[in-house]
Amino acid sequence: MVAQRPPMGWNSWNTFGGAINEQVVRETADAIVEKGLKDVGYEYVVIDDCWSLRKRNEEGKMVADPEKFPSGMKALAEYVHSKGLKFGMYSCAGTRTCAGYPGSFDYEFVDAKTFAEWDVDFLKYDFCYKPRLANGPILYNRMGMALKASGREILFSACNWGSNEVEKWIRSTGAHMYRSTGDINDSFQSFKDIAMSQVDKLAYSGPYCYNDIDMLICGMHGKGNVANGGCSDIEYRTHFALWCLFQSPLMIGGDLSKIDDFNLELLKNKELIAINQDIEARPPMMVGGGDRPVFFKHMANGEYVLAFFNFSDRDGRCGLEFYDLGLTVASGYGFKFRDIFTGEETGLVTENMDVHVASHDCKIFRGTLVQK
Ligand code: GAL
Repeated sequence: MVAQRPPMGWNSWNTFGGAINEQVVRETADAIVEKGLKDVGYEYVVIDDCWSLRKRNEEGKMVADPEKFPSGMKALAEYVHSKGLKFGMYSCAGTRTCAGYPGSFDYEFVDAKTFAEWDVDFLKYDFCYKPRLANGPILYNRMGMALKASGREILFSACNWGSNEVEKWIRSTGAHMYRSTGDINDSFQSFKDIAMSQVDKLAYSGPYCYNDIDMLICGMHGKGNVANGGCSDIEYRTHFALWCLFQSPLMIGGDLSKIDDFNLELLKNKELIAINQDIEARPPMMVGGGDRPVFFKHMANGEYVLAFFNFSDRDGRCGLEFYDLGLTVASGYGFKFRDIFTGEETGLVTENMDVHVASHDCKIFRGTLVQK
């Protein structure tokens, strides 16, 4: 059974765009293992757009570009599998992919079979060049059935950028995750806007079908295919914290051969990953809003996560009155929290909490409700 928890892995698009090839995929698979990312749960190595020739062959099948992938996809899948990882590919519900390569429209059953023959474990499925009268639910359902009929278990990753109120119907198509927004770029503004646009839709996200707020930009530092100035390390940490809190799939988008120590450790942060992988997948409750939102989340083991974000351009205080969570003084209860980044304990806190958060930073606590 796949996607019981948010899928984790790497995708080629954010860094490599059209410059993808088998060398990059092999080196990435090596790095996922050597740098300890596999040990913390990263599993899928996914090739995005631009892997095929511009034309199908005489049998109507897609063909991997022999210059980019001289060994072929089956051999590449075998290599990825030999590392104990899973192999992902990309197609599109329209007649062409977004970059203009063949799409799967009307070829769904042929293509799903081809992917299965290549031992593919994951399919990202885009939405460009879609005939106007063909609708999303039908096209995703058709590929959902084609993948099921392929004879192989393939995680189905839908990508229609949140159009047609995707959250309301996508689970019914067999998809295991679904992109809910337009493309991310490597900037604070981009990841903040993307995350905040989904706060009210997280109730639709859960085991076997997760809201995917796009591939991660951690450690990209203004380089690669979605470059847009880059982020500070603090901002990358805020980005990763939001993705974990919202239980988005965690698909690394950076170049793993060049990832710096701070961002590698960030991507391996066990406390954040544990929040992301929590089996109950309850959406966080947002208290307040504006540029200093606070989120409160129930965890499967009975603990709670409390997260303060400062999206403003000034350092300052972020506060929460516990009655805004429903916890009154009369209840006789308070919290005992631990700062997940510093390990510092708060001791018993009652009535309210007030923390200092630097601009674009966050503070995240995990703890229990206790009787005073
Ligand atoms: C976009 C998609 C991106 C990437 C790109 C490839 O539609 O949102 O994540 O897959 O297409 O062309």
